[in-house]
Amino acid sequence: MTQVQLEKVCKYFGETKAVDNVDLLVNDGEFMVLLGPSGCGKTTTLRLIAGLEKPTSGLILFDGEPVNELEPKDRRVAMVFQDYALYPHMKVFDNMALSLQVRGMPREEIRRRVLETAELLGIKHLLERKPGQLSGGEQQRVALGRAIVREPSVFLMDEPLSNLDAALRARMRGELKKLHERLKTTTIYVTHDQVEAMVMASRIAVMRNGRIQQIGSPQEIYSRPANRFVAEFVGSPKMNIFDAVVVTDDKNLKITTGAFDIDIPASMAQRILDRVLDREVMIGIRPEDIEVSTTYKEGYIEAEIYLVENIGNLSFITFEVDDVLIVAQAPPSFELGAKDKAYFRMSTAKLHIFDKKTEELII
Ligand SMILES: Nc1ncnc2c1ncn2[C@@H]1O[C@H](COP(=O)(O)OP(=O)(O)O)[C@@H](O)[C@H]1O
Ligand SMILES: [Mg+2]
Repeated sequence: MTQVQLEKVCKYFGETKAVDNVDLLVNDGEFMVLLGPSGCGKTTTLRLIAGLEKPTSGLILFDGEPVNELEPKDRRVAMVFQDYALYPHMKVFDNMALSLQVRGMPREEIRRRVLETAELLGIKHLLERKPGQLSGGEQQRVALGRAIVREPSVFLMDEPLSNLDAALRARMRGELKKLHERLKTTTIYVTHDQVEAMVMASRIAVMRNGRIQQIGSPQEIYSRPANRFVAEFVGSPKMNIFDAVVVTDDKNLKITTGAFDIDIPASMAQRILDRVLDREVMIGIRPEDIEVSTTYKEGYIEAEIYLVENIGNLSFITFEVDDVLIVAQAPPSFELGAKDKAYFRMSTAKLHIFDKKTEELII
């Protein structure tokens, strides 16, 4: 069991700042997910922790001890790669056993560990096959098994589910989570898939352009995103964001977008007044925090429906107000369609206000 810490870690490839001043503390036994779009530095961060890359600057510590100078084999980490990287000419058993054989472990001990792990992953019946005779999901388990037999202090997983079809991916993410609950090994898991991050992580570190944007529990990241990038990256359909100004009229505070106004309740106004008044801001609100009605109700805004998408258990209604498109969530029974008029109301308690220039959360 190991705590992993990165202190001001940078990794440059020529002009490219792949990892830019990253501070990260992964607690013992934690399941930390690095989440971000392609090219944001996730793989490089994992490779730095594994020792496959040397940082340009900064420290990497395991349990408080710097490991910058340690070879990968001396770090007690096991990495699971996106493409599995199995040896095609070796049977599953030998793929799983190889790293232990290299270490010179006694044959009986190797056999015991491989069988135990195969049992755990439900792949005992595959041990005599070669990778080419396995489905994608089975290969993925073997790759995982190969990491588990080593009994590492830290698992590093680089998008291990991204080559599986959607149904299998959903099942495997559940199984990986169960596996972590059982083994409790510190895990750093890389993905660009926000759903995967939300359901698996103890905490998520959101990355962009080599930098960490926010670290927090899935719930914190979702309900209190630190900036516009995080707000839009997590959640599907994504958070509505539009330009606005906060103004007062007759002591009431309201947000005006040009297309429509939102009144701020007095209780909230007191709290935010000095931070937002007369400032150019961006307002964010998630689709589920907008109420929809087919008939007029007090405080609702009338708008034309641009699009209705029914996904079975939910409908997403896109309204068009002037040039602004606003997506709201409604029950699947919502019966209106495009060009119909309907009404919406934004739940002010669920509004996020971002600074227009810095895109950082104000409130
Ligand atoms: N070996 C390398 N040489 C040069 N540039 C690299 C190398 N590895 C990664 N990069 C660059 O570093 C950035 C981060 O890459 P990577 O860590 O692979 O991102 P991610 O895994 O988030 O997609 C990208 O711009 C990528 O092109
Ligand atoms: Mg990558």
